Amino acid sequence: MSRITLTEAAKLLKAGKVVAVPTETVYGLAASLSQPEAVDAIYALKKRPLDNPLIIHLGSPEQILAFTSALPPDFAKLARAFWPGALTMVLECEESKIPSRVRAGLPTAAFRLPSHPLTQELIRETGPLVMPSANLSGKPSGTSVRDVEEDFGAAFPVLDGGLCERGIESTVIRFAGRWEMIRLGCLSAEMLGEVLGYLPVVARPSAKPVCPGQMYKHYAPSAKLRLTGHFEAGRVVVGYAGRSYPHSKRVFPLGAIENPAQVMQNLYGVLRDLDREGVAEAYIDMDVPESGLWMTIRERLRRAAD
Ligand code: TXA
Ligand code: MG
Repeated sequence: MSRITLTEAAKLLKAGKVVAVPTETVYGLAASLSQPEAVDAIYALKKRPLDNPLIIHLGSPEQILAFTSALPPDFAKLARAFWPGALTMVLECEESKIPSRVRAGLPTAAFRLPSHPLTQELIRETGPLVMPSANLSGKPSGTSVRDVEEDFGAAFPVLDGGLCERGIESTVIRFAGRWEMIRLGCLSAEMLGEVLGYLPVVARPSAKPVCPGQMYKHYAPSAKLRLTGHFEAGRVVVGYAGRSYPHSKRVFPLGAIENPAQVMQNLYGVLRDLDREGVAEAYIDMDVPESGLWMTIRERLRRAAD
C-alpha cells in the first residue's frame, strides 16, 4: 500500500486503522480519537511504553472546549500566537471525554493544532487525531516517508507530505503557577517569552517526572555518538557547513551554524543517515550557542548520545 491519498487516509482512520501522516514538525502515527482499538495499535506498533501519553491534534482552537473548560491563564494568548503551529499544551481535562489510554491514565491531556495544510484537511474530515511521532520508540522521529517506511515497513500506509518543514517535535508546555516547558521543541523559550512576558523555565524531569514517558531513551540512532568540541584525525564527524574538520574520515553536515532552523530540519535525517551508512561511531560538534533553538538541538543531541 505505502503511499495513500488524503481520501484513503481519512477512510482508513474512520475505519479504525493507523496511518502515518505528515505534520510541519515530524510525521505522526495517527489514529482517530474515537477509535480506542486504533489507539492501542499505536502503542503496539511503536513498541511504546503504556505510561507515555499521546498528543490530541485538533482541527480548530474551539475544539478544545469539547475536552476541558479549565483553561489556564494566558491559554488564549498562547493559542492565538502559536496555533496552528508547534506548541503542545498539557491541560487538565474532563476524563470522561478522553480515553484513559490516550492520557496514560493521567488527569491531564496534551493538545496541539498542527499547521500543515494536509494535516488540517485530514482532521477536518476525521475529527481529532492522536499522533505520536512516527518512529519506533527510542529512535529519532520520522521526518520523511523513507524514515517511516524504514521503521514500519514499505507496505505501511503513509500520506506523503515531503520532508517536514521543522524537523523536530513541538514544544510541550504546562501551567503550574506559571507556564513551564516539559519538552523542548521547535519553539524556543524566547519565542514563548515574547508572548507570556516572562521566560518559561524547563521543568526538571529528573527531579520529579511530569509523566514517566519522558524518562525513556529517545532520539537515538544505533551509531555510538560522542559529544565533543575538538576533533582528531580519522573520525566521522557530525558538524556544520562552513566549519572545517581537517583529516576527518567523513563529515555529515547538519546545516549552517548561522541557521539553527536548518540544523533542526536536518538533524534526525542525519542521525538516521549514520545508521544507513553503517557508521559505528560519530563525533558531534557541540561548539554551538546556548540560547534559542540551539537549546533544543543540544538537548536532542545529548539524549541521542546517552
Ligand atoms: O510535534 C509533535 O509533537 C509530534 C507531531 C506528530 O505532532 N508528536 C509527538 O508526539 O512528538 P510524541 O508522542 O512523540 O510526544 C508527545 C510528548 C511526550 O513527551 C509525552 O510524554 C508528552 O508529549 N505528553 C503527552 N501527554 C502528556 C500529559 N498529559 N502530561 C505530560 N506530558 C504529556
Ligand atoms: Mg516521539
